Amino acid sequence: MTVREIATTAYSDQKPGTAGLRKKVRVFAQPHYLENFVQSIFDCVPTLRGATLVIGGDGRYHNREAIQTVLAMAAANGVARAVVGQHGLLSTPAASHLIRTLDAAGGFLLTASHNPAGPDGDFGIKFNVKGGGQASETLTRQIHAQSQHIHRYVISDAAAIDIDTLGSHTVEAMQVEIIDSVEAYAELMQSLFDFEAMRAWLRQGHRICFDAMHAVTGPYARRILVEQLGARAEAVLGGVPLEDFGGGHPDPNLVYARHLADLAFGDDAPDLIAASDGDGDRNMILGRGIFISPGDSLAMLAAHLHRLPGYRSGLRGIARSMPTSRAADRVAQALNIPLHETPTGWKFFCNLLDADQITLCGEESFGTSSAHAREKDGLWAVLAWLNVLAASGSSVQQIATRHWQRFGRHYYQRHDYEDLSHEAAQAIMHQLQTRLPTLVGQSLGAWTVSQADSFTYHDPVDGSVAGDQGLRIICADEARIVVRLSGTGTQGATLRLYLERYVSPQGDLAQTPEAALAELAARARDICQLEALSGRTAPTLVT
Ligand code: G1P
Ligand code: ZN
Repeated sequence: MTVREIATTAYSDQKPGTAGLRKKVRVFAQPHYLENFVQSIFDCVPTLRGATLVIGGDGRYHNREAIQTVLAMAAANGVARAVVGQHGLLSTPAASHLIRTLDAAGGFLLTASHNPAGPDGDFGIKFNVKGGGQASETLTRQIHAQSQHIHRYVISDAAAIDIDTLGSHTVEAMQVEIIDSVEAYAELMQSLFDFEAMRAWLRQGHRICFDAMHAVTGPYARRILVEQLGARAEAVLGGVPLEDFGGGHPDPNLVYARHLADLAFGDDAPDLIAASDGDGDRNMILGRGIFISPGDSLAMLAAHLHRLPGYRSGLRGIARSMPTSRAADRVAQALNIPLHETPTGWKFFCNLLDADQITLCGEESFGTSSAHAREKDGLWAVLAWLNVLAASGSSVQQIATRHWQRFGRHYYQRHDYEDLSHEAAQAIMHQLQTRLPTLVGQSLGAWTVSQADSFTYHDPVDGSVAGDQGLRIICADEARIVVRLSGTGTQGATLRLYLERYVSPQGDLAQTPEAALAELAARARDICQLEALSGRTAPTLVT
């Protein structure tokens, strides 16, 4: 075994987005591409030397080769111990948990989340820091800058190691442990939830259906839901991880998991229907005859979490990303706890979690989690709902209806305009930003604009400031339009239009979101001059 120093030249396109570096597999497969980025991380995080590093991925195509590369480079860069999930699998929340509990100096998560996989699909790599959270904006900028100057990397020429069998190996002076991907995570879930109550609920004949979408949560769901909680084996769909996710798009929403909505609204629907995404951090929740929007899920969990063992002492605070519906704000107000509004992206929650200022956080993009991890956690959200159902004896429908009758309902939709040209996307943002000041006081259909600005976040913990985090047009409590560009896409630009309308408990709580939001959507398209500037008359995706 020898460590080699390899000369390389920088790639100009290694700027990480909202959650790490994501590109097409063919981009990652270019000579030195992955190596350059990985070395840039080692160069920027010197604390990895002599420390523990966690490595795992969502099981997508290229995962196994990438893990061998990361291992050989970790050994060459002086890492003392690498902990790798068996078969190279670790869900994002499970990896985050391991980083925390092993006191690792960081972790490499090989994932492009819910983006399709396979030779023509996407690949990604994300670095999580000590404590388990995502790299900060500052560190991300440093890594990007380093990737622009890199001219060498170091790598061991040791043979590939067997990542399929539990056990220990050495690469150079580095110890490698292949560990059970699920065990520590399952123990964490047992410490938070009432497994006995959930087992009893299932024994009473209640049914759950969870779709792992042939991605990383399969082994987690089989172990926890089936083996530990006693759900029937058929309760887990897509439980075997596949390199191409079975050709599917493991993004659990009403478009890509339409079959689950059909199940929920069909005859003989299970009591709880749920799914997670490629890397296990997102979740979708449905009940018999009802879909729970992520913003509502956050609010409803906030209202019920104190029933669950890990949360008996109540919530310290709640955080949601700015575009996420304001449903949780009402629960925070009722509980008399702070509500923090952060930019899109999980990393902004981590300071608040570390400073013990919040217990629960979530995003409209099907992400929910609590202080138990530093990532969003799909299976956690499913178990939280399962436990709430078991503890309350209510159905999903009853929980939602009672919630709306108490707090009112926030109708919510996100309209995505995908694969726009960068020019069109910039033009839309630019014209809107310029006009924002003139909108205040203007009427917007039935509503009046009370505030229109570009969102800037002032982190209350470290004082950092993040500007340009989305344009918002607010009509007091009643309606809101948010516009921003995606930071995770790999092709063209994606414009996201977020629509929210509040109806009080006395109003019509039983509309469909489409009907409730139709007028606001039309106004939003006008304000953005979408058709004139992009030629598009309708979104490509509505969630
Ligand atoms: C999207 C979601 C965001 C989420 C991120 C990573 O980012 O909108 O909430 O944190 O994926 O899963 P975007 O593409 O909007 O930048
Ligand atoms: Zn994900």
